[in-house]
Amino acid sequence: MPQVVLLVVCALVCVAVANATVVDGLGDQVHNARPIVGVMAQPTYADPQYKGLGRTYLAAAYVKWLESAGARVVAVQYDLPEPQLVRLLQSINGVVFPGGELDIPGSHYQNTSQFIYNWAIKVRFHSFSSSSIAIAQRTDVTSASGRPQNEAGNYFPLWGTCQGFEQMAIMASGDDSILTEFQAENLTLALDFSSAAAHSRLYGSMEKRIVDIFRNQAVAQNLHQLGLAPDLYALTVGTDNERFRSTWDILSTNEDRRGWTFISSMESKKHPFYATQYHPERNAYEWDREEALIHSADAVAAMQALSNFLVSEARKSANTFANKSEEYASLIYNFAPLYTPRIDRYYEQVYFWK
Ligand SMILES: *[C@@H]1O[C@H](CO)[C@@H](O)[C@H](O)[C@H]1NC(C)=O
Ligand SMILES: *[C@@H]1O[C@H](CO)[C@@H](O)[C@H](O)[C@H]1NC(C)=O
Ligand SMILES: *[C@@H]1O[C@H](CO)[C@@H](O)[C@H](O)[C@H]1NC(C)=O
Repeated sequence: MPQVVLLVVCALVCVAVANATVVDGLGDQVHNARPIVGVMAQPTYADPQYKGLGRTYLAAAYVKWLESAGARVVAVQYDLPEPQLVRLLQSINGVVFPGGELDIPGSHYQNTSQFIYNWAIKVRFHSFSSSSIAIAQRTDVTSASGRPQNEAGNYFPLWGTCQGFEQMAIMASGDDSILTEFQAENLTLALDFSSAAAHSRLYGSMEKRIVDIFRNQAVAQNLHQLGLAPDLYALTVGTDNERFRSTWDILSTNEDRRGWTFISSMESKKHPFYATQYHPERNAYEWDREEALIHSADAVAAMQALSNFLVSEARKSANTFANKSEEYASLIYNFAPLYTPRIDRYYEQVYFWK
């Protein structure tokens, strides 16, 4: 009995909070203290050194980076059949598109990623209103069994890193050829913040000390040969690019070895979608001696601020697994990563799936 009373009180409090603070369609007050974030597991075919180790892989640094901020992780296999994929998306609180070596346009991996992107847009905005957030909240609190995806007022963050950033650029613009070549392998840089950064969600509420680390110290590790040039982002030919410019903010740029400018972080104006061309998951968790990678306390704190932010976004998502057994069976803890520096110097540990 007391439990029931508590639930009702909680629901009422949450309704009040939600009504008070909804701003521009973002900022649900769902507080999910047990967030679970999906990270894409990608095919190994582009990495010949992984031959025989598995069909798909996921670098463990992404898992640790999310865990360090208070989330648990589920690997999202890129070739899950659609019904299972949808069921999984309905059970988790966001998706990360990690770095990698794939030829993205036209790939099965990108097709699945695009499906998730489209799904996340729909889940976010379908008949959104503050009262429907309240309903989502109540449903979450009271429903113990698999409920249908609550499209109204749910929250579902997406994050792209490096290859994931490039995927996000393609998905946001609808343009497969929006990326161009840059010379930014093995390059650590301080961010050149745009004017939009100060009032962005990603950097805008960060402690000044952390923002200053990003601004003044070369902590952001770049490992890319492709990227998004601001002038391509800004092109107004074609409605897709126009849509991109009007719906995403450039938060920072950087120059590659030739002095060519690429976008180094961006966020969607409308959706809880974020992308960094640099690698925040590596400073604390990768140790290759042959690459430029800063392990200072400041660098680790800066990258931790990004996972703290992303996981705080995931806490706004009301999705849960149908029950504990389904949750336990899905978590990354069911799998053990391999210690891989002799196989691939870029990664200390990698998960593989046959
Ligand atoms: C792309 O995704 C759609 C919808 O999920 C699916 O029907 C189609 O078979 C996929 N195509 C490829 C090439 O993966
Ligand atoms: C990466 O950059 C560092 C620092 O500039 C340099 O010492 C190292 O040799 C580079 N590694 C590779 C593989 O190019
Ligand atoms: C958990 O949910 C799954 C999927 O709905 C179902 O197959 C399974 O029987 C449930 N297990 C328990 C213990 O309720």
